[in-house]
Amino acid sequence: MRAIVYERYGGPERLELRDIAVPVPARGEVLVEVVATSINLSDWEGLRGSPGYARIGGLFRPRRKVLGSDVAGRVVAVGDGVAEFAVGDEVFGDNLSKMGGFAEYVAAPESALARKPPELSFAEASTVPQAGAIAAQAAALAARGSRMLINGAGGGSGSFMVQLAKTEGVHVTAVDNAGKLSFLRALGADEVLDYRQVDFTRTGPYDLIVDLVAHRSVFAYRRALAEGGRCVVVGGTSRTVLRMVTIGALLGRFTRRHLGLLIVHEGPAGFARVAELAAAGAIDIHIDRAFPLERVPEALAWHGEGHAMGKVVVAVRGE
Ligand SMILES: NC(=O)c1ccc[n+]([C@@H]2O[C@H](COP(=O)([O-])OP(=O)(O)OC[C@H]3O[C@@H](n4cnc5c(N)ncnc54)[C@H](OP(=O)(O)O)[C@@H]3O)[C@@H](O)[C@H]2O)c1
Repeated sequence: MRAIVYERYGGPERLELRDIAVPVPARGEVLVEVVATSINLSDWEGLRGSPGYARIGGLFRPRRKVLGSDVAGRVVAVGDGVAEFAVGDEVFGDNLSKMGGFAEYVAAPESALARKPPELSFAEASTVPQAGAIAAQAAALAARGSRMLINGAGGGSGSFMVQLAKTEGVHVTAVDNAGKLSFLRALGADEVLDYRQVDFTRTGPYDLIVDLVAHRSVFAYRRALAEGGRCVVVGGTSRTVLRMVTIGALLGRFTRRHLGLLIVHEGPAGFARVAELAAAGAIDIHIDRAFPLERVPEALAWHGEGHAMGKVVVAVRGE
Protein backbone atom coordinates (compact mmCIF):
# COMPACT_ATOMS: atom_id res chain seq x y z
CA MET A 1 0.00 0.00 0.00
CA ARG A 2 1.06 3.63 -0.41
CA ALA A 3 2.02 5.44 2.80
CA ILE A 4 3.87 8.58 3.85
CA VAL A 5 6.85 7.44 5.90
CA TYR A 6 9.54 9.20 7.94
CA GLU A 7 12.60 7.82 9.75
CA ARG A 8 14.07 10.97 11.34
CA TYR A 9 12.62 13.99 13.13
CA GLY A 10 12.72 17.18 11.08
CA GLY A 11 10.74 19.15 8.53
CA PRO A 12 8.34 17.98 5.80
CA GLU A 13 11.36 17.05 3.62
CA ARG A 14 11.81 14.00 5.88
CA LEU A 15 8.52 12.56 4.59
CA GLU A 16 8.53 10.10 1.68
CA LEU A 17 5.80 8.32 -0.27
CA ARG A 18 6.64 4.59 -0.11
CA ASP A 19 5.08 1.21 -0.73
CA ILE A 20 4.87 -0.69 2.56
CA ALA A 21 3.02 -3.77 3.79
CA VAL A 22 -0.66 -3.48 4.68
CA PRO A 23 -0.88 -3.77 8.49
CA VAL A 24 -2.44 -6.87 10.01
CA PRO A 25 -5.05 -6.11 12.68
CA ALA A 26 -4.07 -7.55 16.07
CA ARG A 27 -6.55 -8.86 18.62
CA GLY A 28 -9.17 -6.19 19.28
CA GLU A 29 -8.21 -4.20 16.19
CA VAL A 30 -9.84 -3.59 12.83
CA LEU A 31 -8.24 -2.85 9.48
CA VAL A 32 -9.62 0.35 7.98
CA GLU A 33 -9.42 1.32 4.32
CA VAL A 34 -8.70 5.00 4.83
CA VAL A 35 -10.85 7.45 2.88
CA ALA A 36 -9.76 10.64 4.69
CA THR A 37 -7.38 11.69 7.43
CA SER A 38 -7.19 15.10 9.07
CA ILE A 39 -4.08 16.84 10.31
CA ASN A 40 -3.60 17.79 13.93
CA LEU A 41 -0.92 19.88 15.55
CA SER A 42 0.20 16.61 17.19
CA ASP A 43 1.21 15.32 13.69
CA TRP A 44 3.37 18.39 13.15
CA GLU A 45 4.85 17.99 16.64
CA GLY A 46 5.49 14.28 15.95
CA LEU A 47 7.23 15.12 12.67
CA ARG A 48 9.49 17.69 14.26
CA GLY A 49 10.01 15.84 17.54
CA SER A 50 9.21 19.08 19.31
CA PRO A 51 8.01 20.00 21.96
CA GLY A 52 9.91 17.37 23.94
CA TYR A 53 6.77 15.39 24.83
CA ALA A 54 6.45 14.53 21.11
CA ARG A 55 9.51 12.23 21.58
CA ILE A 56 7.92 10.05 24.26
CA GLY A 57 8.75 6.48 23.25
CA GLY A 58 11.23 7.61 20.58
CA LEU A 59 13.90 9.92 21.96
CA PHE A 60 16.25 9.90 18.93
CA ARG A 61 14.10 8.41 16.16
CA PRO A 62 10.33 8.30 15.74
CA ARG A 63 8.70 5.21 17.22
CA ARG A 64 5.87 5.31 14.64
CA LYS A 65 7.06 5.66 11.05
CA VAL A 66 3.68 6.71 9.63
CA LEU A 67 1.95 9.74 11.18
CA GLY A 68 -1.76 10.53 11.01
CA SER A 69 -4.07 9.81 13.93
CA ASP A 70 -7.55 11.04 12.87
CA VAL A 71 -8.98 8.61 10.31
CA ALA A 72 -12.29 7.93 8.58
CA GLY A 73 -12.90 4.98 6.30
CA ARG A 74 -14.39 1.51 5.87
CA VAL A 75 -13.65 -1.64 7.86
CA VAL A 76 -12.12 -4.25 5.53
CA ALA A 77 -10.96 -6.86 8.09
CA VAL A 78 -11.38 -7.52 11.80
CA GLY A 79 -8.94 -9.06 14.29
CA ASP A 80 -9.84 -11.69 16.90
CA GLY A 81 -12.15 -10.56 19.65
CA VAL A 82 -13.66 -7.61 17.78
CA ALA A 83 -17.28 -7.27 18.83
CA GLU A 84 -18.41 -3.82 17.72
CA PHE A 85 -17.56 -3.71 14.03
CA ALA A 86 -17.88 -5.84 10.92
CA VAL A 87 -16.47 -5.64 7.40
CA GLY A 88 -18.18 -2.82 5.49
CA ASP A 89 -18.86 -0.55 8.50
CA GLU A 90 -18.08 3.13 8.00
CA VAL A 91 -16.01 4.32 10.96
CA PHE A 92 -13.99 7.27 12.23
CA GLY A 93 -11.72 7.84 15.22
CA ASP A 94 -8.44 9.05 16.69
CA ASN A 95 -5.68 6.41 16.42
CA LEU A 96 -3.27 8.49 18.54
CA SER A 97 -1.68 5.48 20.27
CA LYS A 98 -0.70 3.82 16.95
CA MET A 99 -0.94 6.56 14.30
CA GLY A 100 -0.59 5.31 10.68
CA GLY A 101 -3.38 7.34 9.06
CA PHE A 102 -1.26 8.82 6.23
CA ALA A 103 -1.64 5.53 4.36
CA GLU A 104 -4.17 3.58 2.33
CA TYR A 105 -4.91 1.21 5.24
CA VAL A 106 -4.55 1.53 9.00
CA ALA A 107 -5.00 -0.92 11.88
CA ALA A 108 -6.80 0.66 14.83
CA PRO A 109 -8.17 -0.62 18.15
CA GLU A 110 -11.94 -0.90 17.94
CA SER A 111 -12.14 1.12 21.18
CA ALA A 112 -10.78 4.16 19.28
CA LEU A 113 -13.52 4.06 16.65
CA ALA A 114 -17.17 5.00 16.28
CA ARG A 115 -19.66 4.56 13.44
CA LYS A 116 -19.54 7.49 11.04
CA PRO A 117 -22.78 9.50 11.09
CA PRO A 118 -24.33 9.22 7.60
CA GLU A 119 -24.86 13.00 7.53
CA LEU A 120 -21.08 13.59 7.54
CA SER A 121 -18.75 12.89 4.61
CA PHE A 122 -15.59 10.91 5.37
CA ALA A 123 -13.58 14.13 5.05
CA GLU A 124 -15.84 15.90 7.56
CA ALA A 125 -15.83 12.96 9.96
CA SER A 126 -12.02 12.81 9.89
CA THR A 127 -11.84 16.35 11.31
CA VAL A 128 -13.73 15.52 14.48
CA PRO A 129 -12.03 12.89 16.70
CA GLN A 130 -8.98 14.61 18.22
CA ALA A 131 -10.01 18.24 17.85
CA GLY A 132 -13.59 17.45 18.87
CA ALA A 133 -12.50 15.63 22.02
CA ILE A 134 -10.22 18.51 23.04
CA ALA A 135 -12.92 21.09 22.29
CA ALA A 136 -15.71 19.26 24.11
CA GLN A 137 -13.67 18.59 27.24
CA ALA A 138 -12.36 22.16 27.44
CA ALA A 139 -15.71 23.80 26.68
CA ALA A 140 -17.35 21.67 29.38
CA LEU A 141 -15.31 23.61 31.96
CA ALA A 142 -17.09 26.87 31.09
CA ALA A 143 -20.27 27.89 32.91
CA ARG A 144 -23.16 29.63 31.15
CA GLY A 145 -22.66 33.41 31.25
CA SER A 146 -18.98 33.14 32.23
CA ARG A 147 -16.07 34.75 30.37
CA MET A 148 -13.80 32.34 28.52
CA LEU A 149 -10.61 33.06 26.58
CA ILE A 150 -9.27 30.57 24.01
CA ASN A 151 -5.68 31.05 22.88
CA GLY A 152 -4.92 29.44 19.49
CA ALA A 153 -8.64 29.54 18.68
CA GLY A 154 -8.37 29.57 14.87
CA GLY A 155 -7.04 26.02 14.51
CA GLY A 156 -8.74 22.62 14.61
CA SER A 157 -9.69 22.33 18.28
CA GLY A 158 -10.27 26.04 18.77
CA SER A 159 -12.74 26.36 15.90
CA PHE A 160 -14.93 23.65 17.47
CA MET A 161 -14.39 25.04 20.98
CA VAL A 162 -15.59 28.54 20.09
CA GLN A 163 -18.80 27.14 18.62
CA LEU A 164 -19.44 24.74 21.52
CA ALA A 165 -18.92 27.47 24.11
CA LYS A 166 -21.31 29.77 22.24
CA THR A 167 -24.03 27.07 22.16
CA GLU A 168 -23.68 26.99 25.99
CA GLY A 169 -24.11 30.76 26.38
CA VAL A 170 -20.48 31.52 27.27
CA HIS A 171 -18.86 34.89 26.46
CA VAL A 172 -15.88 33.98 24.26
CA THR A 173 -12.69 35.92 23.57
CA ALA A 174 -10.74 34.18 20.80
CA VAL A 175 -7.01 34.79 20.23
CA ASP A 176 -5.09 33.98 17.05
CA ASN A 177 -3.20 35.76 14.28
CA ALA A 178 -4.78 38.71 12.45
CA GLY A 179 -5.62 36.64 9.35
CA LYS A 180 -7.95 34.37 11.34
CA LEU A 181 -9.91 36.99 13.28
CA SER A 182 -12.81 37.45 10.86
CA PHE A 183 -13.12 33.64 10.67
CA LEU A 184 -13.34 33.58 14.48
CA ARG A 185 -16.00 36.28 14.49
CA ALA A 186 -17.99 34.28 11.95
CA LEU A 187 -17.82 31.26 14.29
CA GLY A 188 -19.47 33.39 16.98
CA ALA A 189 -16.58 34.75 19.08
CA ASP A 190 -17.69 37.85 21.01
CA GLU A 191 -14.22 39.38 21.04
CA VAL A 192 -11.09 38.61 19.04
CA LEU A 193 -7.45 39.45 19.73
CA ASP A 194 -4.41 39.31 17.44
CA TYR A 195 -1.67 37.63 19.46
CA ARG A 196 1.00 39.57 17.59
CA GLN A 197 -0.53 42.87 18.75
CA VAL A 198 -2.07 42.15 22.14
CA ASP A 199 -0.80 40.22 25.14
CA PHE A 200 -4.00 38.52 26.28
CA THR A 201 -2.63 38.06 29.80
CA ARG A 202 -2.96 41.84 30.16
CA THR A 203 -6.66 41.71 29.26
CA GLY A 204 -9.50 40.12 31.18
CA PRO A 205 -10.11 39.01 33.87
CA TYR A 206 -11.49 35.69 32.61
CA ASP A 207 -13.26 32.87 34.42
CA LEU A 208 -11.69 30.28 32.14
CA ILE A 209 -8.57 30.41 29.96
CA VAL A 210 -7.82 27.51 27.61
CA ASP A 211 -4.40 27.70 25.98
CA LEU A 212 -3.76 25.38 23.02
CA VAL A 213 -0.28 26.78 22.31
CA ALA A 214 0.90 27.75 25.80
CA HIS A 215 4.20 29.50 26.39
CA ARG A 216 3.45 32.11 29.11
CA SER A 217 4.62 32.22 32.71
CA VAL A 218 2.29 30.99 35.42
CA PHE A 219 2.25 34.53 36.83
CA ALA A 220 0.97 35.93 33.53
CA TYR A 221 -1.88 33.38 33.43
CA ARG A 222 -2.73 34.09 37.04
CA ARG A 223 -2.88 37.83 36.31
CA ALA A 224 -5.55 37.29 33.62
CA LEU A 225 -7.82 35.13 35.82
CA ALA A 226 -10.77 36.32 37.86
CA GLU A 227 -10.92 35.15 41.48
CA GLY A 228 -12.07 31.51 41.45
CA GLY A 229 -11.11 31.31 37.76
CA ARG A 230 -9.32 28.47 36.03
CA CYS A 231 -6.59 28.24 33.41
CA VAL A 232 -5.81 24.99 31.59
CA VAL A 233 -3.08 24.41 29.05
CA VAL A 234 -3.78 21.78 26.42
CA GLY A 235 -0.58 22.00 24.37
CA GLY A 236 2.46 24.24 24.17
CA THR A 237 6.08 24.24 25.24
CA SER A 238 7.19 21.44 27.57
CA ARG A 239 8.53 24.07 29.97
CA THR A 240 5.17 25.76 30.26
CA VAL A 241 3.31 22.47 30.73
CA LEU A 242 5.77 21.43 33.45
CA ARG A 243 5.52 24.79 35.21
CA MET A 244 1.72 24.73 35.13
CA VAL A 245 1.53 21.36 36.90
CA THR A 246 4.11 22.35 39.53
CA ILE A 247 4.46 26.06 40.34
CA GLY A 248 1.11 26.86 38.70
CA ALA A 249 -0.79 24.35 40.82
CA LEU A 250 0.75 25.79 44.00
CA LEU A 251 0.32 29.42 42.97
CA GLY A 252 -3.30 28.77 42.13
CA ARG A 253 -3.96 27.26 45.53
CA PHE A 254 -2.62 30.34 47.32
CA THR A 255 -4.42 32.86 45.10
CA ARG A 256 -7.85 31.22 44.78
CA ARG A 257 -7.37 30.32 41.15
CA HIS A 258 -6.79 26.97 39.43
CA LEU A 259 -3.90 26.49 37.05
CA GLY A 260 -3.10 23.16 35.40
CA LEU A 261 -2.99 20.85 32.42
CA LEU A 262 -6.08 19.48 30.67
CA ILE A 263 -5.54 15.78 30.03
CA VAL A 264 -7.89 14.95 27.20
CA HIS A 265 -9.59 11.55 27.18
CA GLU A 266 -9.37 10.16 23.69
CA GLY A 267 -12.02 7.94 22.22
CA PRO A 268 -15.60 8.04 20.99
CA ALA A 269 -17.04 9.14 24.35
CA GLY A 270 -14.88 12.26 24.15
CA PHE A 271 -15.79 13.34 20.61
CA ALA A 272 -19.38 12.03 20.33
CA ARG A 273 -20.96 15.36 21.25
CA VAL A 274 -19.14 17.29 18.53
CA ALA A 275 -19.99 14.60 15.95
CA GLU A 276 -23.67 14.69 16.95
CA LEU A 277 -23.86 18.49 16.82
CA ALA A 278 -22.07 18.58 13.46
CA ALA A 279 -24.34 15.86 12.05
CA ALA A 280 -27.37 17.85 13.22
CA GLY A 281 -26.00 21.00 11.58
CA ALA A 282 -25.70 22.78 14.95
CA ILE A 283 -21.97 23.43 14.51
CA ASP A 284 -19.93 23.86 11.36
CA ILE A 285 -16.95 21.83 10.26
CA HIS A 286 -14.55 24.16 8.54
CA ILE A 287 -12.22 22.37 6.11
CA ASP A 288 -9.54 24.83 5.13
CA ARG A 289 -8.07 22.64 2.35
CA ALA A 290 -7.88 19.02 1.23
CA PHE A 291 -4.68 17.48 -0.16
CA PRO A 292 -4.16 14.06 -1.81
CA LEU A 293 -2.03 11.46 0.02
CA GLU A 294 1.14 12.15 -1.98
CA ARG A 295 0.98 15.82 -0.92
CA VAL A 296 1.00 15.15 2.85
CA PRO A 297 4.36 16.99 3.21
CA GLU A 298 2.74 20.12 1.77
CA ALA A 299 -0.39 19.59 3.87
CA LEU A 300 1.68 19.33 7.05
CA ALA A 301 3.72 22.40 6.13
CA TRP A 302 0.54 24.35 5.38
CA HIS A 303 -0.85 23.45 8.79
CA GLY A 304 2.40 23.61 10.75
CA GLU A 305 3.39 27.00 9.39
CA GLY A 306 0.08 28.37 10.64
CA HIS A 307 -1.88 29.07 7.45
CA ALA A 308 -4.84 26.82 8.14
CA MET A 309 -8.20 28.06 9.40
CA GLY A 310 -10.05 25.16 10.99
CA LYS A 311 -8.95 21.76 9.71
CA VAL A 312 -6.72 20.46 6.91
CA VAL A 313 -7.76 17.14 5.39
CA VAL A 314 -5.87 14.47 3.45
CA ALA A 315 -8.20 12.81 0.93
CA VAL A 316 -6.63 9.36 0.60
CA ARG A 317 -9.24 8.02 -1.88
CA GLY A 318 -12.52 9.24 -3.33
CA GLU A 319 -15.59 9.33 -1.09
N1 LIG B 1 -3.58 17.67 26.67
C1 LIG B 1 -3.91 16.62 25.93
O1 LIG B 1 -4.34 15.57 26.45
C2 LIG B 1 -3.76 16.69 24.42
C3 LIG B 1 -4.23 15.66 23.59
C4 LIG B 1 -4.09 15.79 22.21
C5 LIG B 1 -3.50 16.94 21.68
N2 LIG B 1 -3.04 17.91 22.53
C6 LIG B 1 -2.44 19.17 22.06
O2 LIG B 1 -3.52 20.06 21.83
C7 LIG B 1 -3.12 21.05 20.91
C8 LIG B 1 -4.22 21.09 19.86
O3 LIG B 1 -4.03 22.06 18.96
P1 LIG B 1 -4.84 22.10 17.57
O4 LIG B 1 -4.79 20.77 16.91
O5 LIG B 1 -6.12 22.79 17.76
O6 LIG B 1 -3.80 23.04 16.84
P2 LIG B 1 -3.89 23.87 15.52
O7 LIG B 1 -4.99 23.39 14.66
O8 LIG B 1 -2.50 23.93 14.97
O9 LIG B 1 -4.26 25.31 16.08
C9 LIG B 1 -3.39 26.09 16.84
C10 LIG B 1 -3.68 27.55 16.54
O10 LIG B 1 -2.84 28.34 17.39
C11 LIG B 1 -2.33 29.44 16.65
N3 LIG B 1 -1.13 29.95 17.27
C12 LIG B 1 0.16 29.62 17.04
N4 LIG B 1 0.96 30.30 17.86
C13 LIG B 1 0.18 31.08 18.63
C14 LIG B 1 0.42 32.01 19.67
N5 LIG B 1 1.66 32.28 20.09
N6 LIG B 1 -0.62 32.59 20.26
C15 LIG B 1 -1.89 32.32 19.86
N7 LIG B 1 -2.19 31.46 18.86
C16 LIG B 1 -1.17 30.85 18.26
C17 LIG B 1 -2.11 28.86 15.27
O11 LIG B 1 -2.09 29.89 14.30
P3 LIG B 1 -0.76 30.43 13.60
O12 LIG B 1 0.34 29.43 13.78
O13 LIG B 1 -1.21 30.64 12.18
O14 LIG B 1 -0.45 31.75 14.17
C18 LIG B 1 -3.35 27.98 15.11
O15 LIG B 1 -4.45 28.70 14.59
C19 LIG B 1 -1.75 20.59 20.38
O16 LIG B 1 -0.74 21.31 21.05
C20 LIG B 1 -1.69 19.11 20.78
O17 LIG B 1 -0.37 18.64 21.00
C21 LIG B 1 -3.18 17.80 23.86
